[in-house]
Amino acid sequence: MQTSQMQSISSTSIVERYLAFFTGRGHLELPGSPLVIAGSTTSFTIAGMQPLLPYLRGQEMPPSKRLTALQRCLRTVDVDAVGTNERKLTFFHMLGNWSVGDYGKRGVIELALELLRDFGFERHSLWVTTFAGDPTLNLPPDEQTVEEWLRQGFPPERIVSLGVDDNFWTMGGPGPCGPDTEIFYDRGVELGCGKTTCQPGCDCPRFLEIWNLVFIEYDRFPDGSLARLPFLSVDTGMGLERVALLLQGVESVFETDLFLPAVARLTELAPVGVVGNSSVEQRARRIILDHTRSALFVGLEGIIPGRDERNSVLRRLVRRASRQGRILGIDHPFLGELVLLFAQGHSILLTEQERQCLHILPDMLTNEETRFAHVLTTGLKRLDKLIPGEDGLVSGEDLFKLHAEKGFPSDLAAEILAERGLQVDWSGYDRAFEQHREISRVSAERHFQS
Ligand code: SER
Repeated sequence: MQTSQMQSISSTSIVERYLAFFTGRGHLELPGSPLVIAGSTTSFTIAGMQPLLPYLRGQEMPPSKRLTALQRCLRTVDVDAVGTNERKLTFFHMLGNWSVGDYGKRGVIELALELLRDFGFERHSLWVTTFAGDPTLNLPPDEQTVEEWLRQGFPPERIVSLGVDDNFWTMGGPGPCGPDTEIFYDRGVELGCGKTTCQPGCDCPRFLEIWNLVFIEYDRFPDGSLARLPFLSVDTGMGLERVALLLQGVESVFETDLFLPAVARLTELAPVGVVGNSSVEQRARRIILDHTRSALFVGLEGIIPGRDERNSVLRRLVRRASRQGRILGIDHPFLGELVLLFAQGHSILLTEQERQCLHILPDMLTNEETRFAHVLTTGLKRLDKLIPGEDGLVSGEDLFKLHAEKGFPSDLAAEILAERGLQVDWSGYDRAFEQHREISRVSAERHFQS
C-alpha cells in the first residue's frame, strides 16, 4: 500500500504542521471552541465552522480574514455507525482553515494541494468529488471547481460529481452552507469492494475522505430555503484521526497513536479472540474505544450522565460501551480506567485546566457503570427470553415493560435485538406507553382527590 511508504508522524505533529502551515500563510490561529457552545442549534459542536457563524454571515468582523484552528467535534448522529467500519467516530478532531471573504475556490485548492504534498500524499492517489447541482433546489453544478481541479492537472476520471447528499454541506439544519469539494485518498484497489461502481463516496475502505472544502455561499433557514450570503467564504475540515490513519500506515483510526494506550489495556482486559465471531468482537472493541473517548471530552465540559439532553448523551455512551464490554466478557466497571488512559494519550491536546479536572472523570464513569450493571444483567437475561410473535416481531409491550419495570433503555434493547436480526413491534410499544401514561394519570388524579 502506498501509505506505508510515507514517514509515520504523530497526531500531535500533524496538528502542529497543519497549524504552522496556515499561520505561515497569513492565517490567525484561534483556540478551538468548547464542545458546547451557548445558543447553538446543535447540542454539541459538530464542525469547526460553528464558532465562526457570525463572521460567515457577515454579522461580525473576524479578527482576520484568514483563520485556522483545531476543533473538537461530536456527532451523535453517527453513533450507530461506529464500529461498522475503520473510520467512523462520534468524537473527532477537525483541523480547519477558513477564508472569510478572502481567497476562494482556486486559493483553497492550491493551499490544500501544497499541504498534502508536504505531508507526503502522492498526487496520483488523490481523488476529488464536486457538486453535481440539484434542479429541485435550483442549484447549478459547480463547474468552476471542476475547472480548478483540471487546471491542477487532475484527470477527469479522478474528479467525481455527486449530488446534494454528498457534496452540499449543511449543518443538518439552519445555518451557513454551500457546495463542497471533498478530497479522498485511494488506499489501494485491494481494499476496494470490487464493484464497478466503487468510487469516492462508496462505503468500502478503499477511498478515505480526508478533507472537505466547503464554499459557503448560502444561509439556510429552518424551512430549508436558501438565501445567498453577502460574500463567499471557504470552510475546510480535515479529520485528524483519518489523516493519522494514513500517515501512520495503520488500518483504522482505532490503531492510531491517540488510541494506543487504551487499546493496550482493553486487550489485557479482553484478549483478542475472546469472542467466537471476529466481526462482533471488532465492533465491540471499536464502540468501547470510541464511546469512552467521547465520554472523556463530554465529561471535560462538566457534563455528568443523566436524563437531560446532553447528560443523556453521556449516559448513552457509557451504557453502550458497558454493554459491549459484556460481549468481550468484561463484567466489572472498566471505563473509568480507560478514560484515564485516553486522557493521557491526548494530554497534549488538553488545556492545563482540563488536565487539573481529569481526576473526577474515572469515578464518574465507574459510578454510572456500577449503577447500570444490575439493570444490564437483568435486562440481558430478560431479552434472551424474548421471542418474536407470529408477525415476526418482538412484542413492543414486553420491551416497554422491561423499560418501565427494570429501567432497561429501550433503544439499547432494540439495538441488541437488531444484532440478533430481530425487529420490535413499535406500535405495540407505543400502545403500552400510552396505556401506562393513562394509568399514571388516573392514579395521580385519585391520589390528588383523596
Ligand atoms: N464544515 C465542513 C465539515 O464539517 C468542513 O469543515 O465537513
